[in-house]
Amino acid sequence: MLEEIKKTLNEFNAEIKKVNSSAELENVRIKYLGRRGVLSQLFDDFKKITSNDKPIIGKTLNQAKIEITGKFNQLQEMILSNSNSTDSYIDLSLPGRKSFVGSKHIITQTLDEVRAIFKGLGFSIYEGPELESDYNNFGALNFPDDHPARDMQDTFFVSEKFLLRTHTSPVQIRVMQEKKPPLRAIMPGKVYRNESLSAKSYCLFHQVEGLLVDTDVTFAELKGTLVSFAQQLYGKDVKYRFRASFFPFTEPSAEVDIWWQQQGKEGRWLEILGCGMVDPNVLMNVGIDPEKYVGYAFGMGVERMALLKYGIDDIRLLFDNDLRFLKQFISV
Ligand code: PHE
Repeated sequence: MLEEIKKTLNEFNAEIKKVNSSAELENVRIKYLGRRGVLSQLFDDFKKITSNDKPIIGKTLNQAKIEITGKFNQLQEMILSNSNSTDSYIDLSLPGRKSFVGSKHIITQTLDEVRAIFKGLGFSIYEGPELESDYNNFGALNFPDDHPARDMQDTFFVSEKFLLRTHTSPVQIRVMQEKKPPLRAIMPGKVYRNESLSAKSYCLFHQVEGLLVDTDVTFAELKGTLVSFAQQLYGKDVKYRFRASFFPFTEPSAEVDIWWQQQGKEGRWLEILGCGMVDPNVLMNVGIDPEKYVGYAFGMGVERMALLKYGIDDIRLLFDNDLRFLKQFISV
């Protein structure tokens, strides 16, 4: 049997020298390494041997197998790398592959729309920091130290005097401290509240604050501006209502609800913003004479507006970043 193994090795070595293509290589593989190939046959024969030479034969057979597989793999690698460099060519007639460039998140899409609408109404844009002083977030906005609204907001305090802003209203304070009236600005940004997460509330969301200060401003103008906004965002037929409300920094105050009709479900009102006439105390806090100037302000929830616009029923979907969800809203 030793003779036979030697013969096989010699034959194999002679044959692989002639191999030129992967098809020929495959034939060699089948012949020597295949399930019914020469090596497999030799191993079968080996099992039947009873002579004292069995250990020697076994060793030789194993070595032959190692040699054959090793040489075979080497040759295969050579043939493959050669075919990559010499056989491949660029097919210019193939259609191009489309690359995925990403797209705007629906929050950004909604923010873009809101910004565009208010730009059309003559508002400029300001931004303030997300880390705010307790004074700008509460004090200057007429929240007394022990006002229940202060804990109602469930604030993330960073230190005794600083916090993650709970609304964009502190940017009103910054704008009024920096600029002289007349003022007409919107202030978009992120806000934070320590709320338990649910389909309706999240610990982080976006607001767009609005502020107008001038000598002759009425609640009717505020209402007109917001109705025009709602109609531009949701269409002329949007169903809305103004509901009397309370905020320490506006008097009188209101909230605006939009009718939410989901297909196959009962419709309901969904609050999208708070608004009102700037409280004279706030104007005084920033050094604007309330005898001379009047202002209105509003603050809208961007997630709420997006839910309404796109018919989504769980706010958490907006933050999970699941591509299967996001891909449904690709804009450009
Ligand atoms: N800041 C208020 C809120 O977060 C909304 C608001 C802004 C109300 C401006 C009135 C005027 O709920």
